[in-house]
Amino acid sequence: MHGSSPRRSNTPHVMAAWMTMLSTIVVAPVAAAQAAPNFESIESVLMHPRCLNCHTVTAFPRQADERLRHSQQVARGPQGRGVPALPCAACHQAANQGRVPGAPDWHLAPLSMGWEGLRGAGLCAALKDPRKNGGRKTAEQVIEHMKTDPLVLWAWEPGAQRQTPPLSHAEFVTALQAWADQGMPCPR
Ligand code: HEC
Ligand code: HEC
Repeated sequence: MHGSSPRRSNTPHVMAAWMTMLSTIVVAPVAAAQAAPNFESIESVLMHPRCLNCHTVTAFPRQADERLRHSQQVARGPQGRGVPALPCAACHQAANQGRVPGAPDWHLAPLSMGWEGLRGAGLCAALKDPRKNGGRKTAEQVIEHMKTDPLVLWAWEPGAQRQTPPLSHAEFVTALQAWADQGMPCPR
């Protein structure tokens, strides 16, 4: 503490530099959260494996919390419903059956709606972009699907003791409605 070596005298500068870096790291996410608190909650659901396993940017679905490549070489196919020799519907029924998850018309989200690799501002922008969200233009259109679609609702009744997203569906809808009412603000 009382040393007088030349190297010690640099300490305050080094400390100041570190403090600046740390404050950037620590403060930035907080500011983003304040800018779009509801989107933070929404993102925690969208990024959950129950959603992301279908919203892939790959030529195949993913499975389980580890988000492994789907077994049996299942492929996306032209419509997200598999290839003729192995369609999703060969195994996935309108409801869960044992280990096989199910909901009406089980298929992959189109590549344009792939969210892998996105987060924060990028994810938020994609969700609002009609070219990436299936042509949904108004806030109400953007959130409607997440309130009612059977594939979305399946994530809260996934069967086989799979984990569900971090919010309940009711909490999710509340966050969606608040976000829509605010004009769908995105984190910076
Ligand atoms: C079984 C596969 C599957 C699962 C699981 C799934 N989705 Fe989707 N999702 C789709 C398909 C297929 C579409 C395209 C249907 C459409 O546009 O009407 C879609 C479209 C969407 C869209 C509209 C497009 C967009 O990018 O804005 C949203 C939002 C969405 N899903 C949210 C979710 C959320 C949230 C979950 C989890 C709670 C989820 N999905 C789980 C298959 C799935
Ligand atoms: C040969 C049968 C079979 C085919 C065909 C098949 N699946 Fe699956 N799928 C399964 C089984 C079984 C599981 C459950 C694996 C486990 O958790 O043990 C599964 C799990 C999944 C999951 C993981 C759910 C989660 O969050 O863990 C997704 C997503 C999925 N399938 C999508 C698809 C899609 C989309 C297609 C068509 C492109 C498809 N599957 C074709 C048998 C199949």
